[in-house]
Amino acid sequence: LHVAVLMGGWANERPVSLMSGEGVAEALEARGHRVTRIDMDRQVAARIAQAAPDVVFNALHGVPGEDGTVQGMLDLMGIPYTHSGLATSVIAIDKELTKQALVPHGIPMPGGRIVESASLFEQDPLPRPYVLKPVNEGSSVGVAIVTQEGNHGNPIARDAKGPWQEFERLLAEPYIRGRELTVAVIDGAAGPRALTVTELVPKSGFYDFDAKYTDGMTEHVCPAEVPDEIARLCMDLALRAHRVLGCRGCSRTDFRWDDEHGEDGLFVLETNTQPGMTPLSLVPEQARQCGMSYEDLVEAIVAEAMD
Ligand code: DAL
Ligand code: MG
Repeated sequence: LHVAVLMGGWANERPVSLMSGEGVAEALEARGHRVTRIDMDRQVAARIAQAAPDVVFNALHGVPGEDGTVQGMLDLMGIPYTHSGLATSVIAIDKELTKQALVPHGIPMPGGRIVESASLFEQDPLPRPYVLKPVNEGSSVGVAIVTQEGNHGNPIARDAKGPWQEFERLLAEPYIRGRELTVAVIDGAAGPRALTVTELVPKSGFYDFDAKYTDGMTEHVCPAEVPDEIARLCMDLALRAHRVLGCRGCSRTDFRWDDEHGEDGLFVLETNTQPGMTPLSLVPEQARQCGMSYEDLVEAIVAEAMD
């Protein structure tokens, strides 16, 4: 096959996407496919048309590769592509829209609400501790945990540094104490399959951008050492989120688990439609745990796109 690997772009997650894309491109070459690497710019449609690939492997993260824009462009061009389609991407990139889609299906997610960043200097939107995050970023870009200690219980100080400097609207959610879990779902001939559960144990205590991409900063426990009923529930919820959102190829659903509250303490944070494919990434690691090499995983995602 001739596969165009789309990567890079101008999102905050550009460096992550370049790592995902290079990993994917090398895997495809190792399997004998012809690969064209495309670092996305504003001429991307023309460059894809010129390359005329059989299929596009979308290794982009963030906007506009994960939010439906690139998906709509490829739909118009009539070129098959990996991962989720337009409508799913529009919903899943937005953490608030994702809640509106999943919660009515009985999928537990933290409460919370959208706030104007400027209002944070007037009053706390929620009792502390709470989490502030941009609705449509990945890799924990712009995420802050607002603790009691941080600000002596007062509204955020105007000179404090945080995502409110860069994003006008933020999602405020109660902070869920406890543990960070994640589950990959892969589509195959027999339908979507949840792989396993990984627990992320960041050495700093916060699974932020640096903890995600610096080797040695986070321990991955795969499979997670959690009770069987929690593992089963995580895998069931990840599968249901994948189905409800209409994900394709591959998705990864992230959780917080308050282990003092058993099954009632488990919350879905979000579903990622373009999960990372870097050497430290979670989906390839779970695939390996299930006997599927990185190359097998990439080929399975491409096969699904050609179906
Ligand atoms: N947003 C990053 C790439 C992930 O979900 O893995
Ligand atoms: Mg994400």
